[in-house]
Amino acid sequence: MTTVLSREAPHPFALPDGGYRPPLKWAGGKRWLVPTLREMWASHNHRRLVEPFCGGLAVVLGLVPEKALLNDINPHAINFYAQLKLGLNIKWEMEYDPDKYYEYRNEFNNLIRKKKANTKRAAELFYYLNRTGYNGLCRFNKQGEYNVPFGTHSKINYVSNFLPYKEIFKDWQLSCADFQTIEIEPKDFIYADPPYDVQFTQYSKEGFNWDDQVRLAEWLCKHKGPVVLSNQATEKIIELYQKLGFNLAYRDAPRLINCTGNRAKAVEVIATKRI
Ligand SMILES: C[S@@+](CC[C@H](N)C(=O)[O-])C[C@H]1O[C@@H](n2cnc3c(N)ncnc32)[C@H](O)[C@@H]1O
Repeated sequence: MTTVLSREAPHPFALPDGGYRPPLKWAGGKRWLVPTLREMWASHNHRRLVEPFCGGLAVVLGLVPEKALLNDINPHAINFYAQLKLGLNIKWEMEYDPDKYYEYRNEFNNLIRKKKANTKRAAELFYYLNRTGYNGLCRFNKQGEYNVPFGTHSKINYVSNFLPYKEIFKDWQLSCADFQTIEIEPKDFIYADPPYDVQFTQYSKEGFNWDDQVRLAEWLCKHKGPVVLSNQATEKIIELYQKLGFNLAYRDAPRLINCTGNRAKAVEVIATKRI
């Protein structure tokens, strides 16, 4: 008698390092920081992971905690994740075509105007725009309308069937608010990745200014559990976190400061407490 050993098919979004592929493109995504964050998370992985600036979810999909609270002020990203939690399978053909892009961008902005941005259709359009638009940017005008132009890509592999994310997201809570209003527990592990102090990418119509950086640092300082913050290592940011008694470490970020012709590597500061 022969025994047939059944092997489970690999998860379609699994990455070789044990994490999962983030579904969106996101400026400032921290996939590259996941190995460092894994070391910090290892002795705390019984805790709930709180990300007040979850963005493109590169970190939570890298650490894969059992429980998480994922917050971002961008309502379209959060609506998209809420639809993934419900089970999303896009049934129309996504085409890489400028006319189609602007047609869908208009439809998406009409949904925003009609206060229907929290729907399945809006999530589908947001995904298409995110993959097809310029550089995966997510930029809005003062009215909160999406104004990213068509992007030039050699090839786009659109995903239609997002159902495999449903199980992963099952016990992850979503929230769309300013970071300071989220409900955290003293034992939570917070990983905060705010917009940079020098920011060329506006993620939301509100923006994030220096007062917000200070407000964040003071809020993180008050937390009783473990905290990790990443930010661009500018003098002001380093001074801010040093003064509040955080431990500081530095990492080379995989991007260059090249908008002024400067080819130096950008440096990231990692500020921690109780790690
Ligand atoms: C650097 S990105 C986070 C990237 C994320 N760690 C990743 O790996 O994809 C910063 C995020 O902060 C969000 N944000 C900006 N202002 C905010 C605020 N006041 N409260 C919460 N989120 C905010 C932006 O929408 C953006 O997604």
